[in-house]
Amino acid sequence: MIREARESDLDDIFEIEVGTIDPWTFGILEADYKNESTNYFVYEVDNEVVGYISLLNLASEIHINNIAVDIDYRNKGIATSLVEYGIEYFKDKDILGYTLEVREDNYPAIKVYEKSGFKAVGIRKNYYSNNKSAIIMWKYIGE
Ligand code: COA
Repeated sequence: MIREARESDLDDIFEIEVGTIDPWTFGILEADYKNESTNYFVYEVDNEVVGYISLLNLASEIHINNIAVDIDYRNKGIATSLVEYGIEYFKDKDILGYTLEVREDNYPAIKVYEKSGFKAVGIRKNYYSNNKSAIIMWKYIGE
């Protein structure tokens, strides 16, 4: 089940976040959640938060700021469901489309975005640590 996140979910979201390669600090997570231009959604299994997505509405572009799924629940389609939910949530809200940056070697994430119709449109060289580049992806409204 997917629902809008509450502030009381932040501890659970942070626990998922620390299981990722380059986790946000709790402070960054909290500030992002409290930003008036972000929307947070969580995926629950048996009332437990096992995944989340952060979407930023910036000048009518919806940025996927972050998405993560608990390591025990990966490869079950949860991230894809969260992305699809976010796409559906904004689709009638007069936006240009959806965009994100993803580390060039983050194959599961790239797969999720491709499954949801995102296409690579550019590269930011050496954007991440270890000289890894970011792939810029877009899905425009109507595509
Ligand atoms: N290479 C290529 N594809 C891979 C892969 C690999 N090494 N490992 C998994 N996949 C595929 C899976 O087979 C699946 O595709 P399929 O449904 O066609 O079989 C897809 O990647 C994963 O889809 P889904 O199950 O919806 O994603 P998930 O719930 O496992 O979550 C992430 C995906 C990226 C959110 C999760 O791995 C995660 O939390 N990673 C850490 C945080 C992160 O990197 N976030 C992205 C920031 S841009």
